[in-house]
Amino acid sequence: MIAELDIKRIIADRLVSRSDWERMLPRKKIGYTRSRLYACDAFEVLALMWFPGAATPIHDHGDSYCATQVLAGELHVARYLLPEAANDEGNIVLQLVGRSVQHVGEGDALESVRDLHSVANQSTSEALSIHVYAPRYTEFGIYDASGVRVATATARYDAVFDF
Ligand SMILES: [Fe+2]
Repeated sequence: MIAELDIKRIIADRLVSRSDWERMLPRKKIGYTRSRLYACDAFEVLALMWFPGAATPIHDHGDSYCATQVLAGELHVARYLLPEAANDEGNIVLQLVGRSVQHVGEGDALESVRDLHSVANQSTSEALSIHVYAPRYTEFGIYDASGVRVATATARYDAVFDF
């Protein structure tokens, strides 16, 4: 079982040391970068730097729990639920749970493989968020707007710091 206190302590440590790692985060002109700040068997902590216009497809996080928090800028998030059962017509239809603009201090928790989201930086400034995945995952699903899993992607790091 994951010790919640361990996760909180690690995140607090990483936030305190933010001035050390934030300036080293890899940068791109488009898209976003994923930098690992900590990893153990039970969970990992990543910093995601989102550049203006960056957007993910609708995706899951494998079988991992996912918690996010915005540290700088703002992110547009759409949350979806993938139903377990087909509807009366025999189709699995992705349900839009909600859309939000998340500002500094705000975030989400996605607790099941059926909790999906898409994330975008629609502003003209960079955004930074911190993410916890428990346990770590290497593959995740990408979905189209109707809920069809269209691809399996490999989770990659643009940098590994593991402070
Ligand atoms: Fe995600």
